[in-house]
Amino acid sequence: MKLLQAAVIFVLVPTLAQAFDPLTVSVVAGGAVMAWHLLSSDSWLKCRFQECCNRNSTLNFTALKAQLDNRLFGQHLAKDVVLKAVLGFSNNPSPKKPLMLSLHGWAGTGKNFLSQILAEQVHPAGLRSKFVHLFLATLHFPHHDQVKLYKEQLQNWIRGNVSACPSSVFIFDEMDKMHPGVIDAIKPFLDYYEEVDGVSYRKAIFIFLSNAGGDLINKAALDFWASGKRREDIQLKDLEPLLSVGVFNNKNSGLWHSSIIDRNLIDYFVPFLPLEQRHVKMCVRAEMAARGYAVDEKIVQEVADEMTYFPKEERIFSDKGCKTVQAKLDIHEDVVMGDTKARG
Ligand SMILES: Nc1ncnc2c1ncn2[C@@H]1O[C@H](COP(=O)(O)OP(=O)(O)OP(=O)(O)O)[C@@H](O)[C@H]1O
Ligand SMILES: [Mg+2]
Repeated sequence: MKLLQAAVIFVLVPTLAQAFDPLTVSVVAGGAVMAWHLLSSDSWLKCRFQECCNRNSTLNFTALKAQLDNRLFGQHLAKDVVLKAVLGFSNNPSPKKPLMLSLHGWAGTGKNFLSQILAEQVHPAGLRSKFVHLFLATLHFPHHDQVKLYKEQLQNWIRGNVSACPSSVFIFDEMDKMHPGVIDAIKPFLDYYEEVDGVSYRKAIFIFLSNAGGDLINKAALDFWASGKRREDIQLKDLEPLLSVGVFNNKNSGLWHSSIIDRNLIDYFVPFLPLEQRHVKMCVRAEMAARGYAVDEKIVQEVADEMTYFPKEERIFSDKGCKTVQAKLDIHEDVVMGDTKARG
């Protein structure tokens, strides 16, 4: 491609200059500049019309922090760990390996949500970006007898995509439902290699999402609450030993006996705490604002009350985090709209 561009500028234009009048030459030269832009992979012109790869994968720490502060509720640990990870990774012009995060926690606590926010920082189109890839264990790798095929397909897919865009983001959801053999396929890409078959993976980001360890994190959060301590005082060191039990020694974590664990290739384990009713309310308010409504505290309370909580007696943590907030709000929206029409 570069050769073709050079040919346009250095061969075609001078040749035309000799043969034609100045007007023709300037028109052709203008065309040549346009062609240069269109042929160049990172041209601003081309990138105005189609998505281009953010080759540096430099993450804007301040922007990410602002997004997490404003949008992710009740997850002080996950926020701290991810910001620390990103700071180290993006400050390093030549990371030794790709960034590898493993997110753990109960349903609806924000694992996909955080991955999406992070992906948007690298590629603004987020999950819609052609450089962000989401794999679901039950959808993409459902059959245990086809592990060999999946491994091959996965390796080809990752190789092809990182060759096209070094800062590609790969998110593996439902890791707890993944056959450990499948995930071993990505081990060569995660390791400390300068290049594998001429491709460097060191600017890529890999994220695993799983519920493995979620029950243990919940128990620790409940113990904290029961002993009268503040949730915000839970520290990473309180949860790290639990995660190793919940993940390394858990046959259903997708990482059981995985070479990724043996080789210590996961840079950070990111725990997600179970959400309390006050966080559910924050989710409802955020969702109302996103839908363009004024926040109605009556509806906020109603939606929060409709959620189920555990332990049954004390009702401290939401069973499904904020997961069903949107669906519940849809129902309230229908009722409100119906009322408005009836009064109409
Ligand atoms: N901590 C949070 N802060 C703000 N919004 C949240 C949070 N957790 C969940 N949500 C909201 O709930 C939705 C569902 O959450 P998400 O899909 O991230 O859960 P999850 O942790 O991936 O759950 P699961 O383990 O069931 O897949 C999000 O899209 C977001 O709108
Ligand atoms: Mg999820």
